[in-house]
Amino acid sequence: MSYLTVEHLTKNFGGLSAVSNVSISVNEGELVGLIGPNGAGKTTLFNVLTGVYKPTQGKVILNKDGKSIELSKLPPYKITHQGVARTFQNIRLFKDLTVLDNVKIAMNQQAKYGLFGALTRLGKFYASEADIEQRAHEFLKKVNLDDLAYDLAKNLPYGKQRQLEIARAMATGAKLLFLDEPAAGMNPQETHALTEFIAKIRKEMDLTIVLIEHDMSLVMNICERIFVLDYGKLIASGTADEVKNNRKVIEAYLGEEE
Ligand SMILES: Nc1ncnc2c1ncn2[C@@H]1O[C@H](COP(=O)(O)OP(=O)(O)O)[C@@H](O)[C@H]1O
Ligand SMILES: [Mg+2]
Repeated sequence: MSYLTVEHLTKNFGGLSAVSNVSISVNEGELVGLIGPNGAGKTTLFNVLTGVYKPTQGKVILNKDGKSIELSKLPPYKITHQGVARTFQNIRLFKDLTVLDNVKIAMNQQAKYGLFGALTRLGKFYASEADIEQRAHEFLKKVNLDDLAYDLAKNLPYGKQRQLEIARAMATGAKLLFLDEPAAGMNPQETHALTEFIAKIRKEMDLTIVLIEHDMSLVMNICERIFVLDYGKLIASGTADEVKNNRKVIEAYLGEEE
């Protein structure tokens, strides 16, 4: 059974079908890409996966520790509690706080609900300020951002802000991560650094990652499998080579240029 299963998922907005009868599955530990032209329904699919929207039809199931959890029946905070995290197309950070505080807030949030304690080996519900600070540093070391711990988020170069945003999303101990166009607005060097960053955190923390990109190159480089959406429909899936040479995919992207 797949780790994440999306079954015949449809999300309509009035007369528009933003996501239309999409079925995909993701295995535990996989890094998969979700691509497609602007307006294809990528972000809408993430919004359904994370509980922002209820599906019009179909369901989303997470198989974890031998249990099937129907995510599409849960509100967003309960989906978060299942170890699901996301980032957004536009950066969302506490810009006037330090890198360390951004991470501490994310950890604190989770500590309140007890999941953070449950997910750490310490297994302690209550985490003191000093505990959290220490864990935040340990976490930042893991993701190679600890040298920036006392910098304000807004003073980081753009590429590092994006990395911090991803790190913060995972500071809660998430195991399933949805990244919405993390390379948007990046130059080639920043994109390259991001690629390495994603590969590192994935390995370091045993993550399963679904990555949205509008630009194909990043996805082609790091994703094991790619799903292609166009006008809300899944038009192709497979390896980078398979998808790259798929006629429907080529046409969808060509159509966009016109
Ligand atoms: N909340 C909403 N209300 C109405 N239409 C929406 C809403 N969110 C997205 N859409 C529409 O759904 C389609 C898919 O959008 P989106 O999922 O953002 O595409 P992508 O992320 O692939 O660029 C677009 O036509 C968009 O205008
Ligand atoms: Mg989008």
